[in-house]
Amino acid sequence: MSIGIIGSGNIGAAFARALARGDIEATIANSRGPDTLKELVREIGPSIKAGTREQAAAADIVLVAVNWSKLPQALAGLPSWSGRIVIDANNPIEAPLFKPADLSGRISSQVFAELVPGARVVKAFNHLPPPLLAGDPQAEGGRRVLFYSGDDARAKAEVGTLIERLGFFGIDLGDLTTGGRLVQFPGGPLPVHNLVKFG
Ligand SMILES: NC(=O)c1ccc[n+]([C@@H]2O[C@H](COP(=O)([O-])OP(=O)(O)OC[C@H]3O[C@@H](n4cnc5c(N)ncnc54)[C@H](OP(=O)(O)O)[C@@H]3O)[C@@H](O)[C@H]2O)c1
Repeated sequence: MSIGIIGSGNIGAAFARALARGDIEATIANSRGPDTLKELVREIGPSIKAGTREQAAAADIVLVAVNWSKLPQALAGLPSWSGRIVIDANNPIEAPLFKPADLSGRISSQVFAELVPGARVVKAFNHLPPPLLAGDPQAEGGRRVLFYSGDDARAKAEVGTLIERLGFFGIDLGDLTTGGRLVQFPGGPLPVHNLVKFG
């Protein structure tokens, strides 16, 4: 399973750090090109490589962590997703105003899914601040909890397996509508809570 990351900011880099901790390979991309990522990947570790947006998007699992308003541009003009897994780590709000985006009553993952037609979308890695995602998942005598949800059972299972491999305790919240609503930020009840599973 190859892994790509579109977005190399707080969340994209934190996810890359979590992968690097487990020596898992990935290609990370931003809007400015691989040359601008040389320092970041050197610092994160040898399993993480800088690539173009197209190279990152060609992976079997692609995590997208881009500012909400820039998502259409970041996902435009890419080759067909053809059933590959896309992880939506995005929240419909952004600095500096932190004004929630107008979603016309929909959940953000439904809006996101329309930007990646043909992909199997799994919502995950969006509910914690970046340092908790990048940090040691062994916490307070247990394992830090990450949530995931999606409409495709196999895609969801792959992401659940990745979450476990990274050392977190994954909780399947159900389909995209149900889980997406629970982890939606702002509005859902789960974001920002740093939960730990004991035993
Ligand atoms: N920060 C948090 O606490 C947090 C927590 C959970 C979820 N999230 C969500 O995660 C997403 C990313 O947040 P962040 O804090 O990581 O943002 P960030 O630090 O501002 O990073 C955004 C990244 O998106 C890239 N990007 C923008 N336009 C692009 C394009 N056209 N093509 C490719 N890459 C592009 C940027 O690349 P360039 O710099 O090269 O433009 C940058 O690497 C957002 O949706 C946010 O709501 C954030």
